[in-house]
Amino acid sequence: MANQKLWGGRFSASAAEILDAFNASLPFDKKLYKQDILGSKTHAKMLANCGILTQEEAEIICNGLEKVQQEILAGEFVFKLSDEDIHMAVESRLTELIGDVGKKLHTARSRNDQVALDFRLFVQDSNQHLRTLVLTLITTLLNIAKEHTQSMLPGMTHLQHAQPVNFGFLLCAYACMFVRDFERLESSFKRNNFCPLGAAALAGTPYKTDRHFVAKQLGFTAPTLNATDSVSDRDFALDFLYDSSMLAMHISRLAEELVLWSSYEFKFITLSDAYSTGSSIMPQKKNPDVPELLRGKSGRVYGNLMSLLVVMKGLPLAYNKDTQEDKEGVFDSFETLDISLRILNSVLKTMQINTDSMLKACKVGHLSATDLADFLVQHCEIPFREAHHITGKAVAHAESLHKDLSDLSVQELCSVDSRIPQEAHKSLDLRASMNSRNSYGGTSTESTLVQIESLNAWLNLAKNTLGEA
Ligand code: ARG
Repeated sequence: MANQKLWGGRFSASAAEILDAFNASLPFDKKLYKQDILGSKTHAKMLANCGILTQEEAEIICNGLEKVQQEILAGEFVFKLSDEDIHMAVESRLTELIGDVGKKLHTARSRNDQVALDFRLFVQDSNQHLRTLVLTLITTLLNIAKEHTQSMLPGMTHLQHAQPVNFGFLLCAYACMFVRDFERLESSFKRNNFCPLGAAALAGTPYKTDRHFVAKQLGFTAPTLNATDSVSDRDFALDFLYDSSMLAMHISRLAEELVLWSSYEFKFITLSDAYSTGSSIMPQKKNPDVPELLRGKSGRVYGNLMSLLVVMKGLPLAYNKDTQEDKEGVFDSFETLDISLRILNSVLKTMQINTDSMLKACKVGHLSATDLADFLVQHCEIPFREAHHITGKAVAHAESLHKDLSDLSVQELCSVDSRIPQEAHKSLDLRASMNSRNSYGGTSTESTLVQIESLNAWLNLAKNTLGEA
């Protein structure tokens, strides 16, 4: 029995049944139907412009492709595994609908450049979509930060109380990370915004085509320079997976703060009931499942990066079927980040911020110890190492009185060492301590407001450029 496939001409027997299940990408690449149809319409127009098809043929093809798209959108399209992939599924249906002229669409292209185009269009769209969501997230962080430049809490190193900072300042730290994630995506977008269609199988085509027209129509900067490179590499997808991994890592860090901050031990925030879950056995519990999942989702996103890196390693030029494995991980990372960013934004917007608990926590851990040491250095001509030692004694004294250093009276402080003057007492004040860190990028309220202002200026620029991307 002759082989019925589009490529079946040279085959005398049909493919083994199990082959379709193994070989076909249709179950997952049908997601690319829009990109495939858009690419094909543009290709047909270019063929007509170059006199390879007549204008009438191109019009019939474009109308037929439009009909195929309507069928898919309406859920009427029958996806047949035997069609292998979305490219052949669309083309077979097109030919069923419009007859023999449909068979001319594939002139001067190959599935190799076709899939490279469809996938690149998908990656570029996804890149822009994630950037929009990152901007929304940064906006939310800055809106909260603006309200909390006076809300003091213990800044930590090694998860131990270190120095007093304000809550807005910590949110700005995350905003800075997400700014870099945005810029990373933006730079990948620019680097990869080149059109592979027209590379054909691997070596270009003898037809007098116009790749510049296709590139321009599809919103690319230009056609790719080398045909073999165009069909063989998937570094544009790897850029996306790496950018996604970095973004997922930052999301997971912020999610971890939410888990900590919402615990009984911290109580800095209360997650909205709408984004919390209960325990099936312990009735009193309100669990941070949402931030935990946000934290955990990073695992699959990193996995997708690793798996495509391994698929690509050692592949010879040019197209190899191995690269069919490029899609599912990208789809998964995109979908994971899409929902993660949206849910994180809602969690932040709806959480309650408990400034009283933050302030209370500042009274534990002698947060102003560094300030006392600095005072002794700056005003009493005591070398830092010695000032450090005297302050250590003051901390021990406070502990013996079951007090925080910042709660010592003037007398209690001065009794520690004869070199401590009365004025040193004001250095123990926590708010003064926070606001003394007024260096560029520091945690004083003033300096935090400067950071918020420059992040907002960046945000406005980014919103404008994204509109043009
Ligand atoms: N389904 C294939 C993929 O995703 C399309 C390209 C197939 N090309 C080929 N010559 N077999 O990579």
